[in-house]
Amino acid sequence: MARELQIVPATAEMLPEILRLEEACFSAPWTRKMLEAELTGNQFAHFLVAMDQEDAGAPVGTIVGYHCFWIVFEELRLMNLAVRESMRRRGIGRALVTESIRLGLAQATTRAVLEVRATNEAARTLYQRMGFVQISTRPKYYTNPVEDAVLMEMDPLVMQEGSLQDRESVVGGGSVSAH
Ligand SMILES: CC(C)(COP(=O)(O)OP(=O)(O)OC[C@H]1O[C@@H](n2cnc3c(N)ncnc32)[C@H](O)[C@@H]1OP(=O)(O)O)[C@@H](O)C(=O)NCCC(=O)NCCS
Repeated sequence: MARELQIVPATAEMLPEILRLEEACFSAPWTRKMLEAELTGNQFAHFLVAMDQEDAGAPVGTIVGYHCFWIVFEELRLMNLAVRESMRRRGIGRALVTESIRLGLAQATTRAVLEVRATNEAARTLYQRMGFVQISTRPKYYTNPVEDAVLMEMDPLVMQEGSLQDRESVVGGGSVSAH
């Protein structure tokens, strides 16, 4: 069944719900302070949330995913991405990253970079499928547990064919259907 999702900019009022999701999704989660800094105090940061609009599996208006990224001149930096466990493999992660690429391209960024835990197969596959390639590793970059980071980039930054799936920009109130 198709579910209606909306991807909209996060607000400071969403912080408690985002924090709960962050703590559920990561072994070394960002703190409230870190999230708050990205939401309100960083001129480069963009923070999007995916809201479930259908009363099935999650209450209407529930945040089912979020994505934080920086647009720093010519570079798009993917900083954080998470999807509620019960809502994974429905295209929400891909939809969120598609929006950051779209906004990056609209602001003339030419390259995208990110770091991901070496063992995070789900995220690595997602990024790979979207056109990112591994360029190096950073030994013991992460804590809890200690683990290498894989550095990935997309250069030049492009929107992969099929990513848009017949939809216009969803940021700011449009909708996207996830399966
Ligand atoms: C990584 C994460 C955000 C993916 O979100 P998602 O909404 O489930 O991803 P999507 O449904 O958009 O998946 C898109 C593609 O990525 C790949 N993918 C996603 N999850 C995968 C998994 N568990 N195993 C293998 N491939 C996977 C698949 O190619 C998938 O396409 P398909 O379903 O058509 O095969 C989600 O698993 C998550 O929140 N994990 C915990 C937090 C985290 O690790 N964040 C990333 C930090 S860098």
